[in-house]
Amino acid sequence: MQPILKIFPDPTALVNYAADLFAQQAQTAPGRFSVALSGGNTPRALYERLSASDMAERIPWPKTHLFWGDERCLPPDHPDSNYGMTAAALLSRVRLPAENVHRIQGELPPPQAAERYEAELRAFFGETPAFDLVFLGMGEDGHTASLFPGSPALAESVRWAVEVEHTTPPPPLVSRVTLTYGVLNAARRVVFLVSGASKAGMLAQAWRGGNVPAGRIRPQNGELLWLVDQAAASALSSYE
Ligand code: 6PG
Repeated sequence: MQPILKIFPDPTALVNYAADLFAQQAQTAPGRFSVALSGGNTPRALYERLSASDMAERIPWPKTHLFWGDERCLPPDHPDSNYGMTAAALLSRVRLPAENVHRIQGELPPPQAAERYEAELRAFFGETPAFDLVFLGMGEDGHTASLFPGSPALAESVRWAVEVEHTTPPPPLVSRVTLTYGVLNAARRVVFLVSGASKAGMLAQAWRGGNVPAGRIRPQNGELLWLVDQAAASALSSYE
């Protein structure tokens, strides 16, 4: 399947589209609806939008299961925790059953957090970790989830979740746990949310499938959708 690129005038339009897509896919999923969430600023705006009452009431929360694409190894109530950010923006505001929240336990030693998360994923999915929907962000260095340029995690082909040392910007400079390519590329739909001019050069590379971590997201049997604002799209030519 060819990747799809949609360019929006501003981040609000982008987030509204992504929220609508979430609601529609949740409604039509035949059984459980499994989603992997991302950290980052654009995703935060999405979670806030999903918690607004007009949107929240369209979503069948009892069948919705939330996971995370990556986590910073910090306690869940730390301001830099991806779970903590989602809890404030979304989980605390909607009727999602507590057992449908599958967080990465960032408070544990990183190898143990990765192991526990993989066990949780295997218990949920069985043989094939096929998320219905995966949201990803992209950093200015081309990283996605916590797959950073040069990291050994980029070559991991067996484990579903691994611990990652993270010692160069962007902050916070703490260890992380991330899903690996095998899981991300097994999803039925992957949606990148990218906004801002600082991402423009890297977006052009990743969109062309360049050798940057985000460029290696290519779902084998699923759809790849890039939702970007005009500022982030400014280095793409009109042919793309
Ligand atoms: C994280 C992420 C990461 C993020 C990008 C983009 O926890 O940091 O999951 O991959 O999505 O760095 O973040 P921004 O949208 O804030 O630039």
